[in-house]
Amino acid sequence: MSAQAGLHAAFAEALAGAWRLTARPEQLAPDGDWTTWIFCGGRGAGKTRSGAEWILERVASGAARFIHLIAPTAGDCRDVLLEGPAGILTIAPSHARPIYQPSLRKVTWPNGAQALLFSADEPDRLRGPQCDTLWIDELCAMRTAQDVLDMAFMGLRLGKDPRALLTTTPRPIKPFKALLAREGQDVVVTRSSSYANRENLAPQFFAQIVSKYAGTRLGRQEIDAELLTDVPGALWHLERIEELRVTRAPERLERVVVAVDPAVTFGPDSDETGLIVAGLGSDGAGYVLDDASGRYPPEEWARKAIQLYRRYGADRIVAETNQGGDLVEKTLRSVDPSIPFRGVHASRGKITRAEPVSALYEQGRVHHVGVFGPLEDQLTSYDGSRGSSSPDRLDALCWAIHELMLGTPPGGYIKPEALLAPAADAGLGPVEFPEMASGLFALVAAGIDPDAPDDIAVVVFSFWLHGEGRTPLVVLDWDIDTLTPELMRDWAPGVAERLGELRREIRVPGFGSPVAIEPQGLGVTLYQDVQHAHSVELIGAASAEQDIVRMPLSQRVLAASGHVNAGRVRISRHAHEKTTTHRGVTRNHLIHAIAGFGVSGTEQQQVGALLAAFADGVLEVFADPRTKV
Ligand SMILES: Nc1ncnc2c1ncn2[C@@H]1O[C@H](COP(=O)(O)OP(=O)(O)OP(=O)(O)O)[C@@H](O)[C@H]1O
Ligand SMILES: [Mg+2]
Repeated sequence: MSAQAGLHAAFAEALAGAWRLTARPEQLAPDGDWTTWIFCGGRGAGKTRSGAEWILERVASGAARFIHLIAPTAGDCRDVLLEGPAGILTIAPSHARPIYQPSLRKVTWPNGAQALLFSADEPDRLRGPQCDTLWIDELCAMRTAQDVLDMAFMGLRLGKDPRALLTTTPRPIKPFKALLAREGQDVVVTRSSSYANRENLAPQFFAQIVSKYAGTRLGRQEIDAELLTDVPGALWHLERIEELRVTRAPERLERVVVAVDPAVTFGPDSDETGLIVAGLGSDGAGYVLDDASGRYPPEEWARKAIQLYRRYGADRIVAETNQGGDLVEKTLRSVDPSIPFRGVHASRGKITRAEPVSALYEQGRVHHVGVFGPLEDQLTSYDGSRGSSSPDRLDALCWAIHELMLGTPPGGYIKPEALLAPAADAGLGPVEFPEMASGLFALVAAGIDPDAPDDIAVVVFSFWLHGEGRTPLVVLDWDIDTLTPELMRDWAPGVAERLGELRREIRVPGFGSPVAIEPQGLGVTLYQDVQHAHSVELIGAASAEQDIVRMPLSQRVLAASGHVNAGRVRISRHAHEKTTTHRGVTRNHLIHAIAGFGVSGTEQQQVGALLAAFADGVLEVFADPRTKV
């Protein structure tokens, strides 16, 4: 060792010994017999350093013999907790420097104390081993925070005085809030803003990370280490995201997409490229699987998107092409020409796109698989007002969910006034029977109410195919009956008869009067039955079977909502009046279920025939004149 290096080492040691002198008070373990110390700090506030110093001190005093160190990823364990500028190996004095055995994921001190390294990716590995000292760095960045805590604290039971330290930038996630709520009992909390450590931070770090957040809402969290609460008017609430959070996606997903909201420029001040992976479960719910958003040059985001596409076995990449145009597709194809791609164009406002997605969360139908900090921060702070920086992750998320669950055209939810308003203020209230229609159509669905599984609904529509001027689809009549053997026998002729009556009121030049059946549950039996009843013409059953059965309820409902809100589907005064004259259980049953959908989450299961009808590929053709010549 050269004289200079030796001097340097001695100097470093002197400094390390002086941690108690250089540390700010909040970086030192408080006195008292707490079991858990939380050091809540902004970015670069000196959290990791505090943790590393605490471990060294406990090792030196003999309090720590068996230590567990936990970081978000295995890379973080090595690069941050051990070898980083504030890591244990870096700051340990030479006479007490431990040996790191990467293959064993273990660190051993000269005095025999040892630390095992764990990453939050595999909380199950924590099952079993015990410790007397636990340090978790960046808990709130862990997707599996709850599991990690459960497992880690289960193992903290060796020695006379087991203790834990959590160093983290706060985020209002449930497990963390629960810990904070114990402050004053067995938990102590110290706090620090990034600014307090400014003199020890590289100017670039300050310029890139800290300044970026200065003055923003997120800055209160990222810099000032404040626990954020809901933004009034925000479309998403963290509480709800938390309730719906899961640690694993379902084994099998019906679909997976990678959604990209590409930044068109690249540089330190350009927007981020939103890059979100989401899937659709066979339960009809959406699962947010990954957020790889960041500031990338074009080839880089294209490469990342394609990597994600492969890793998650996605079926498609969707990307917003508003700004990049063809270039977006070209960039992707330059990496892989065969990639299934769909460009989406934002023709309506961000809020119009975001609202139905947030409503899906309200209804409990989108789950985050793990924690996506920056994405969730964007979601929970976006209130639709302009001026805040571009929420690129939110945008990408919305594209993903629209692609998976909202269909095209993206529909909002059915607004009550669309169906129930007595006057046509919104231009969506009840209408008279049309004088003329291209055809009549009955749609049948069984088992529409889980509490009354034998109920069967028939909804009769008129449709109009010839361009503007008339509503494409009108709900003429509807009925709900409980299916009995007698009704079963008379059912098909009954529907035919009603169709016949309506044809006398409404002029129908060419078309027949088909009936479509939702071929699920009771519908299967009905379908077979109707095949023998020649009084009605059965259409679209094959495609209905494919389109409807494969379409999750949520998707049908949303497709339907879009049609109703857009005025492509209207309800006749006659059908509307039944919502007020029908008594008993079935009163308002169908129509209210539809109207209430999106207003009250509990109604969703009642949604039946009508909704299936709108969303059915067959009806789509009837509903939108542009799709049929
Ligand atoms: N009291 C202190 N005196 C001198 N240097 C300090 C002090 N506290 C922290 N530092 C140094 O400041 C730098 C940043 O600290 P550290 O990495 O611990 O912050 P952090 O909060 O973990 O940051 P990040 O948010 O990036 O994880 C490190 O080089 C660390 O050694
Ligand atoms: Mg750190």
